Amino acid sequence: MTKDLPEDLVTGIESIDKQHLTLLQTFDSIIECMESAEPKDEITKLIDFLVSYTNIHLETEEKIMEEQDYKDYELHKREHELFRMKIQTLEKSNFMFRENKKVLNITVRETKKWIMSHVMNTDVKMAAFIKNMPN
Ligand SMILES: [Fe+2]
Ligand SMILES: [Fe+2]
Repeated sequence: MTKDLPEDLVTGIESIDKQHLTLLQTFDSIIECMESAEPKDEITKLIDFLVSYTNIHLETEEKIMEEQDYKDYELHKREHELFRMKIQTLEKSNFMFRENKKVLNITVRETKKWIMSHVMNTDVKMAAFIKNMPN
């Protein structure tokens, strides 16, 4: 399943990779919906899912980092706070610009890009540390 994840986004921790794939696929579905004539409710449903799934995902990572006493936990967590804020902004854009898909479109694409960069730089680094921990 995680073979669909771009190579530079693979952390090697199966549970995390699966969640990243789900997050990115949700973004792609939102983009597809925005570009077709899908009713606005469909987009809202997908964004609702994105909001709750983001929380699940970030809590999963934070739990792993805490359990493994990850040295850069605080730094990583601060990026997650930004992550949460970006998802909230996306949710707000959907409500505030109901008639203007352009604003939502920009926000969705920028947020997806930011998340991919977080995965590529911050999550991959964290996973390398966790995988090298003696069991
Ligand atoms: Fe992540
Ligand atoms: Fe992360």
